[in-house]
Amino acid sequence: MTELIKEIATASPDETEAVAKEFAAVLCGEMVKKDTDNLFVALYGDVGVGKTVFVRGIASLICPDDFVQSPTYALVNEYRGEYRICHYDMYRITSEDDLESTGFYDYKNCIIVAEWCENIPFALPKSYYRVDISKTDDGNGRLIRIEKVTE
Ligand SMILES: Nc1ncnc2c1ncn2[C@@H]1O[C@H](COP(=O)(O)OP(=O)(O)OP(=O)(O)O)[C@@H](O)[C@H]1O
Ligand SMILES: [Mg+2]
Repeated sequence: MTELIKEIATASPDETEAVAKEFAAVLCGEMVKKDTDNLFVALYGDVGVGKTVFVRGIASLICPDDFVQSPTYALVNEYRGEYRICHYDMYRITSEDDLESTGFYDYKNCIIVAEWCENIPFALPKSYYRVDISKTDDGNGRLIRIEKVTE
């Protein structure tokens, strides 16, 4: 089942961060109810569309002291604050073995936010948030669609 949480257009990186920060409050509300399970946020969208900017917005509420940058080479960056955020870039991940070697299956009680989930359909949990970002013009326009996917 897919439930639309929010669909909104932004006109700047700051606006995208603000949308993500508001969404982070929803994530915190869910984490309160969780025990050891992870919360998973799957990000989709082309190169340079704003996925990392969106993660920066999430972290600005939950881990405001940490510097968010693309985990392009490290594959995963961890931020610590009110909750632990594991920020993935799945761009170079093509198999379950690749993913396992990053420690993906060992994480507990954290918020996993993953860019390039196009590459890991096999690893999506039963329930997760799906965020699609797309360009709406040649400049700074973006459309952000946030959905909650459940069984
Ligand atoms: N409305 C907007 N929302 C987000 N980013 C924007 C917006 N307008 C312009 N930008 C710019 O688009 C770029 C987005 O870069 P970002 O690294 O977040 O993309 P990405 O989707 O993570 O790319 P990659 O696939 O390489 O990881 C930044 O340079 C940002 O300043
Ligand atoms: Mg990125």
